[in-house]
Amino acid sequence: MTRMDNDTPQGPQTDAATRTGATITEIIPGPAATLTVSDNVSASQTTAPAPVSADVTASAAGVQPSGAMQTVMIGTSVQTGEPVMAEVPAFTAAGERSEPLLSVRNLQKHFPIKGGFFGRTVGSVKAVDGVDFDLFRGEVVGLVGESGSGKTTVGRTLLRLVEPTGGDVIFKGQDVVKMNKRQLREVRRDMQIIFQDPFASLDPRMTVEEVIGEALDIHKLHQGAERKPRVAELLQRVGIRPEQMVRYPHEFSGGQRQRIGIARALAVSPDFIVADEPVSALDVSIQAQVVNLLQDLQQELGLTVLFIAHDLLVVEYICDRIIVMYLGKIMEIAPSHQLNNDPQHPYTEALLSAAPVPDPTIKRQRIILEGDIPSPINPPSGCVFRTRCRYAIPQCAEVVPALREVKPGQFKACIRDDIL
Ligand SMILES: Nc1ncnc2c1ncn2[C@@H]1O[C@H](COP(=O)(O)OP(=O)(O)OP(=O)(O)O)[C@@H](O)[C@H]1O
Ligand code: SF4
Ligand SMILES: [Mg+2]
Repeated sequence: MTRMDNDTPQGPQTDAATRTGATITEIIPGPAATLTVSDNVSASQTTAPAPVSADVTASAAGVQPSGAMQTVMIGTSVQTGEPVMAEVPAFTAAGERSEPLLSVRNLQKHFPIKGGFFGRTVGSVKAVDGVDFDLFRGEVVGLVGESGSGKTTVGRTLLRLVEPTGGDVIFKGQDVVKMNKRQLREVRRDMQIIFQDPFASLDPRMTVEEVIGEALDIHKLHQGAERKPRVAELLQRVGIRPEQMVRYPHEFSGGQRQRIGIARALAVSPDFIVADEPVSALDVSIQAQVVNLLQDLQQELGLTVLFIAHDLLVVEYICDRIIVMYLGKIMEIAPSHQLNNDPQHPYTEALLSAAPVPDPTIKRQRIILEGDIPSPINPPSGCVFRTRCRYAIPQCAEVVPALREVKPGQFKACIRDDIL
């Protein structure tokens, strides 16, 4: 995982920025990080009031203590857009990895809300609001979060099944967001999606042969005499008898239909697949079979997969890394075992506390998240999780946390390093 770019817009320095700095340093409680507001991300040019409350302990921050401290940008001021700096314990960053297959930068999708007599835009649903992550070739990355957090919108926006409002999706070095129709058609051969509801995603008027054949036809692959054998091969690979290709989707069970959906996605030999809750509409008894099938195919074909799910257990089982979303933003990214054993973000901690633990000897304290997820039409200022966070301090309303690396390969969007 490469370090995220801090490309947050930086507004001009004003008196308000200095005031914000003063306010911030005043309201920080004892054991928090040292916070200042600066007009430049560079630590050496910090111009805000002198730091206060510097008694952060490395152990409190959950970072291997090396004794050294570093000044980093932990977010941006709500009032001024200026970077907010903090002194935090230093650690060795994860080593650089190879070029990502997919890089998502500042991705946004705001659905307009129409209203009034003239049907004017009166607001927007901030379904995805500034999301950054990288996917590396051959890895399976889970995308989790409560219902409505924006997971499906991220997945669909990557393929431009939903048009993004802003940001970049760099796939194999090219920006999908800037592609014209022809380029988009070409790139979609390499990027496929498996939908949650296998019944809704398969045309009931088409036979299975037609459903899979259509995917081949769009990209002019395996045409003529090659078409039928290719459909048969794909069906066999996903555990459906090839002679059943003459049947219609309603003649199959839910699990079989999802296998057909997988075969259709694989028909064009993609490199990257978005699997949007591929098993959550299925009976529990067959979920494991479909998950195992996906895992086998991923390893056999070297696929890169973004696996969207609610179930943290399933995600930990099959994913190399996990991205945690809340209200259109990323809260944490970490390798799966690290996220499960040592979450760094309060939201991840709460999600994990509610998830069943496979080992009955391990007891987790249940953290009840009070209230519903706020409306994405009018999300809370500063940290969007603050209205439900048990560690929230007044400053959380004033600073939009940056997603920053707090342990090797582990990123969180939270301004506090003295918790967890
Ligand atoms: N076409 C749309 N028009 C307006 N709002 C939308 C549209 N699609 C999604 N939304 C809103 O965007 C937000 C994110 O929705 P999304 O479906 O991406 O969430 P999700 O994390 O996939 O949820 P779930 O776990 O329930 O599938 C929600 O508030 C949803 O109501
Ligand atoms: S509310 Fe504050 S403490 Fe809680 S996650 Fe957000 S920034 Fe961190
Ligand atoms: Mg969804």
